[in-house]
Amino acid sequence: MAKDIYIGEVAANEEIQINYFLMKVMLPSSFTEPLPGQFVMIRIAGLHDPFLSRPISIYSYTRGKSHCAIELLYRVAGKGTQILAGLIKGSQVEISGPLGGSYTIDPLKKNIVFIAGGIGIAPLSWLAKCFCQKDGLTGDAMTFYLGAQTAEAVVGLDRIQKLCYNIIVCTDDGSLGAKALVTRMFQKDIKTYSPSNTIIYACGPKVMLQSLSTILSGKYVCQVSLEERMACGVGACVGCVVAVKDGQGKPAFKRVCADGPVFDLEKVIWE
Ligand SMILES: Cc1cc2nc3c(=O)[nH]c(=O)nc-3n(C[C@H](O)[C@H](O)[C@H](O)COP(=O)(O)OP(=O)(O)OC[C@H]3O[C@@H](n4cnc5c(N)ncnc54)[C@H](O)[C@@H]3O)c2cc1C
Ligand code: FES
Repeated sequence: MAKDIYIGEVAANEEIQINYFLMKVMLPSSFTEPLPGQFVMIRIAGLHDPFLSRPISIYSYTRGKSHCAIELLYRVAGKGTQILAGLIKGSQVEISGPLGGSYTIDPLKKNIVFIAGGIGIAPLSWLAKCFCQKDGLTGDAMTFYLGAQTAEAVVGLDRIQKLCYNIIVCTDDGSLGAKALVTRMFQKDIKTYSPSNTIIYACGPKVMLQSLSTILSGKYVCQVSLEERMACGVGACVGCVVAVKDGQGKPAFKRVCADGPVFDLEKVIWE
């Protein structure tokens, strides 16, 4: 269950919007190439307050001759991420990962739909990039729905614009794009996506995923990345369990860190 821990060096840590940061971390080349949807546990090397690492999705990955680099896109939510936000170039961080499973690709599905709420854009942006780089998909096969509370909370749109031709942006207050919830924007278009030809990837707040589950009512293949508070990140503490339906439709408890974070939406049991 234990995962290798790497000491990484912060190459950049820029506040790209108020409260949102983009961090680039240089890692030894022995860091395993991550899959889209996987995450790392990060903490400041040698700092014991807060003791626990924080889970952050991998936003990008590049490999050079003697090192590799990951990017993390994060929102300052509390003490741990506030400390991360204060790191300067050259700071050392402890990274364990890549952790968890990844989104899977179904080559039979012609329409790829992404639905991101707020910082949920991070793993989906990288998934879209992997589709373009490795699977040869072009921008017209992918549609990206991106919602946030306000324009200030819309991050990462520039990268999506380089990958997808069809982008629908909305905010709760209408300060950018349509004034609507992202699930509502998708619902308006749902008839244009045939269930047999479409795969949906989503990440965002629980309430958004729950609403998406109602809208899709089990008719579409949809993979979601869940976010639970985590302690160990490797399946040892059982602090991140969620209820999902097993093969017989009965409730089973799964650890988001080790069994997820990606799950089939129709299997998730909402409290
Ligand atoms: C697999 C995974 C991937 C994630 N990827 C990203 C990412 O790419 N970018 C990003 O900004 N955040 C991401 N998160 C959420 C991030 O881990 C939390 O925001 C962070 O741990 C909060 O730590 P903190 O010490 O700053 O805040 P705390 O002081 O621990 O908490 C502050 C507030 O955030 C809430 N919170 C804490 N942890 C979570 C969580 N896991 N999910 C939802 N709410 C939480 C708390 O309930 C509290 O209200 C991810 C979480 C998981 C599980
Ligand atoms: S965080 Fe410990 S089991 Fe998931």
